[in-house]
Amino acid sequence: FIFANFLYIFSLYTINYMKVGIIGSGGREHALCYFIKKSAKVDKIYCFPGNAGTSKIAENIQADLNNFEELKNIIIEKEIDYLIVGPEKPLVDGIVDFFEKHKIKTFGPNKIAAELEGSKIFTKKLCQKYKIPTADFGVFNKSADAFKFIESSNFPLVVKADGLAAGKGVYICEDKNMAYQAIQEVFGGKFGLAKEILIEEFLDGEEMSYFIISDGKTYKKFQTAQDHKRVFEGDKGKNTGGMGAYSPSKLINEELDRKIISKIIEPTLKGLIDFKTNFKGFLYAGLMIKNNEPYLIEYNVRMGDPECQTILPRLKNDIMEVLEGSINGELENINLSWHESKSLSIVLCSKGYPDKFKNEIEIKNLDNLDLKDKEFIFHAGTKMIEDKTFSNGGRVLNFVKQSESYKKSREDIISLINNLKWENGFYRKDIGFKAIDK
Ligand code: AMP
Ligand code: GLY
Repeated sequence: FIFANFLYIFSLYTINYMKVGIIGSGGREHALCYFIKKSAKVDKIYCFPGNAGTSKIAENIQADLNNFEELKNIIIEKEIDYLIVGPEKPLVDGIVDFFEKHKIKTFGPNKIAAELEGSKIFTKKLCQKYKIPTADFGVFNKSADAFKFIESSNFPLVVKADGLAAGKGVYICEDKNMAYQAIQEVFGGKFGLAKEILIEEFLDGEEMSYFIISDGKTYKKFQTAQDHKRVFEGDKGKNTGGMGAYSPSKLINEELDRKIISKIIEPTLKGLIDFKTNFKGFLYAGLMIKNNEPYLIEYNVRMGDPECQTILPRLKNDIMEVLEGSINGELENINLSWHESKSLSIVLCSKGYPDKFKNEIEIKNLDNLDLKDKEFIFHAGTKMIEDKTFSNGGRVLNFVKQSESYKKSREDIISLINNLKWENGFYRKDIGFKAIDK
């Protein structure tokens, strides 16, 4: 009895003790912040730099995300226990290695593992070595060789710059002229110094995002989603960061899930171990599905945005326990459970995005919106100026709803957006059309 009492008193001291830092400023990070805030273990959250949404539940701190030394000083001063990294760039730059060296517990893959996103050629070579299904490809280090290759190729084909290019750097080429120009642009340095170029077979089928979370020893599935990258309805127009998503994907079934795990995820994790490292954090496989067969298009070493905002409301677990489990190598003991409902997100963007758009347009009605159960608004490009919310980017707000059908989720979101009446905004009304409007 005394022991039980002791445990009880001890537990009183152990709840609400954690200080958490979150790196990033998008909808993904606001969603992480929102659910981390709900954790009984978390006392205070700092966002680097966050947005208007995070400023209401956490403390935003302006810092140069490229300056790890400066970040470290703030993290030590604020006594932050865990650092959660949202976007890819700091991961690819080695933020996890840096902070681990300074004994700060950081969520995400190390620099070598982050090459899965940082270098498309690294990933393709891994696919080749471990027989992971992916588009056939060639790597060229001279433009003359690349030009020669396209002379005898079938079209369409895909030309890719190797490194991070913020969603750009991928050319779907319909003919030789387009491929010629793409090769010139990549070797011309449009996406930074290019020593090599990747040319690959065009895969047709339907795209799906598949997520896992790993602690370096074991992993747990973290759901599926379908994203809408093009700016206009019907998947037309330029590529964007993502205009909306839904989860789960309509394509997933048990057999496909088994194939993805056995042909793609597990060989990748094993491949990294052969590289003398392992994968910690979220791993996001961008897949092409054709006739219920998965092909790897690319890896990302983080959650997707807006997939994160769409998936997290489905998670029943305390997200902080899950992230902690990944950091501390204790995921094995955690069973993830999910709401079976249909989650859908729509991104409200600034008119003109992804090209030129105006910033600092006030969003007036936000506090008047009546959010019902399972409805969420996650901020992306927003900032507060004297208690008022202003736009601060191309993708501004994410509206998310979970319900019994994608159609209902979408209708309810659209009525929320209509009630907001933000005159500088536009959005796609057809998110989920392949699952809803067949
Ligand atoms: P990535 O940055 O590699 O994800 O490529 C961006 C987008 O280009 C993907 O989401 C696909 O829509 C498309 N894509 C990339 N590689 C291929 C491929 N080999 N075949 C067909 N589409 C592709
Ligand atoms: N939604 C696509 C991405 O996060 O890369």
